[in-house]
Order: sequence, then C-alpha cells, then structure tokens
Amino acid sequence: MKILITAGPTREPLDPVRFLSNRSSGRMGYALAKAFALRKDHVLLISGPTTLPIPDHVDYIPVESAQEMYDEVAHHLNQMDVAIFCAAVADYTPATIADQKIKKSEDTITITLKKTPDILGSARSLMNFGGYLVGFAAETENLEANARRKLETKLCDMIIANDVSQVVIGFDSHENEVLIVEAAENTALPRDSKEHLARHIAEIIMLRSRQKNDPAARS
Ligand code: PMT
Repeated sequence: MKILITAGPTREPLDPVRFLSNRSSGRMGYALAKAFALRKDHVLLISGPTTLPIPDHVDYIPVESAQEMYDEVAHHLNQMDVAIFCAAVADYTPATIADQKIKKSEDTITITLKKTPDILGSARSLMNFGGYLVGFAAETENLEANARRKLETKLCDMIIANDVSQVVIGFDSHENEVLIVEAAENTALPRDSKEHLARHIAEIIMLRSRQKNDPAARS
C-alpha cells in the first residue's frame, strides 16, 4: 500500500529571518511513518522542519510553509492508497512578507494574517482523492464533538483526536492518548509512547482501508 503522511509544524515567514510556527516536534507523524515502513508499506513523508532523523525506508519531502506542504500533497496525493494528515499546519500566514528584516522602531506593530489553504479540507474536493483519508484533530475542549465535525466537514474516513491542553501528551511530548473517531464508532487508545500508539493506529488504519475497499471483509 502507498501511504502519504504529513508531519511536523509549518513555518510562515514574516521577513528574511523570522517566522510564525508552533510546538509540533514531528514525533507523532514520524512514528506513523516508521510504523507503516516496518509493515513494508511504501511511505511518503511530507514534513515541516523538525530535528528528527528520517525513518529508514521512507521517501521524504521537506517543506516549510503551509502553501509548500499543500503543493507537495496536491502533487502526490492521487498516487496514494491512504493519506494521513498529522502535520500541525498553520491556519494563518502573514499577508505580506517583508523583503528586509523588520526594524525595531514602534512600541507595538500590527501583523495582518490571511488564511492558509486547508490541505485536509481540499483532499476530497479540490484534489479528488478517493483513497482512505485520515485527519488529526488537535483540540483543547469537546474532543469527540469537534473531531466528529471535522470527520464530516472534511469528508474523512477517520479522525484521530488528541487533547492538546495536556502538556504530557500531544505537542512536543513523547507520549500521546487518542480518540479514533469514525462514522460508526469511537475507539479510545490510552496514554502510551507515540511509537507504540503509531503501531496500533497503523494496524487499525490498514484494517479499515481494506474493509472500505471490500465491504464484505467487515463481517
Ligand atoms: O508533532 P508532535 O509534537 O508529535 O505532536 C503531534 C500533534 C499534536 C501535532 C498531532 O498529534 C496532531 O494533533 N496533529 C494535527 C495538528 C492540527 O493542526 O490539528 P487541527 O485540529 O488544527 O487540524 C485538523 C486537521 O487539518 C489536521 O489533520 C491538520 O493536519 C489539517 N490541516 C490543518 C490546517 C491546514 N491549513 N491544513 C490542514 O491540512
């Protein structure tokens, strides 16, 4: 099976030396890439900047901004059987990028932000992806309800929700705890290392994608 995985943060440039970003370490997405590669699946990892080593036997495309990640996903998505969007993509980017380093002059400055393209939200509609589509949901409240809304509005087969208000799981931690939300059921995976969780998540995704292609396999 061919699996596309996005991981890590994006960097949205303000000027030649500054950017807006977030605390994603890339660990969850890289653990998923490793888990699928160990299963001998063909993995394409499209990643924002991290300090992690690239997992063995994984094709790797580095990107910086949300727009660059969008362009690479759009280019490769339709060759894939499964797509998993684990990256913490910036929702907004500076409306303009200064040509020169912004000087310290005023006491306050205002930066205007504009929306980035919604990569996951474009997978079905603009990119016409027909494979098994998995999004993540980073939530600080109403985990299940917000994940289910993303499942429906972004036409996903599965949303993997994590509560990022807890510092010991989610962003930049070694462990996570997730709620897998599908149309017919929820599955809670308790707190564990991202590596162990990734192996479990990979098994569930492969089972579900096979069942989607062959509904008789459900019974
Ligand atoms: O990298 P780690 O430190 O290991 O942390 C892991 C994680 C917390 C980043 C990961 O588990 C996670 O939750 N990733 C999704 C983070 C996120 O941006 O969630 P969201 O609820 O804001 O976005 C929903 C979905 O839309 C995600 O699949 C996201 O990749 C996608 N998205 C969001 C914005 C955008 N412009 N394009 C997108 O594709």
